[in-house]
Amino acid sequence: MPATISVNGRVTPATEAVIPVLDHGFLYGEGIYETLRTYNGGPFLLDRHMRRLRNSARMIVLDLPFTDAELADRIRGTMSAAALHGAEAYIRVLVTRGVGELTYDPAATPVPSVVIIVKPQIDPPPDAYERGVRVIIADIVRNHPETVNPMIKSNNLLNSALAAQQAIRRGGFEGIMRNYRGELSELTTANLFIVKDRVAFTPPLESGLLPGITREFLFEVGAAVGIPVREQVLRDEDLFAADEAFLTSTTRELVPIAQVDERTIGTGRPGPVAKALLDEFRRRAWSGGPA
Ligand SMILES: Cc1ncc(COP(=O)(O)O)c(C=O)c1O
Repeated sequence: MPATISVNGRVTPATEAVIPVLDHGFLYGEGIYETLRTYNGGPFLLDRHMRRLRNSARMIVLDLPFTDAELADRIRGTMSAAALHGAEAYIRVLVTRGVGELTYDPAATPVPSVVIIVKPQIDPPPDAYERGVRVIIADIVRNHPETVNPMIKSNNLLNSALAAQQAIRRGGFEGIMRNYRGELSELTTANLFIVKDRVAFTPPLESGLLPGITREFLFEVGAAVGIPVREQVLRDEDLFAADEAFLTSTTRELVPIAQVDERTIGTGRPGPVAKALLDEFRRRAWSGGPA
């Protein structure tokens, strides 16, 4: 099913949704975004996504031209127009610097462009959860936090796109990226976790990564099922010696990693910790939120 798209409040099918060439999102990659999905038709953890969107905006010095309630309204309107007939929605909200002269001066672009893309949520194949996936470690280094900080969920995705291209070429489901110090940071569109002795570890924000909403939620999920979830600097050897590994993201929830390049992780099958966390994650998501 094709996407339904709102561009500055005008909702059309994807084929009719257009942005001017002089939009600085197109010219300079100046913009930010969020990806959400629904459970039972409601956007999951919407307030947390709003908070992260505002933080990204602040970090690129962009004033968002809407309140949380107004954006929620626009999302709802786009979802209604999309008429998903009971299917769950994938929702992408993008805000760019807006249209203006060819200059980096923000004064040239007083009005940000706001785009909302809605289409059916496509889950990874059941096989990914049942057998685990193979990922690769990319050679492309994650952006140094003092260049384009990975904390910003930026439309400027070349760093991730180049690493993802390597993963695709090498037949990986995803690509792990290291930071400039050689520590593991995250995957091209997901956060990384390993499990050792029934404790789940994920790299700290200081390792240079996006503070994933699913990653954050997993600390609460872990606490509920008695599995400690901690931040720790991780290196290749921690990953290779792990009992389990998995990735998290809004659209893929928690996917076990069975293999990294040619190395098997743990037993090479999804492990009990990943399974317990995924079960509890889904229970909460389908029952309407964090409670
Ligand atoms: C670079 C990167 N890291 C992590 C994530 C996972 O974040 P979330 O759980 O908020 O979807 C994403 C999501 O797209 C991402 O692009």
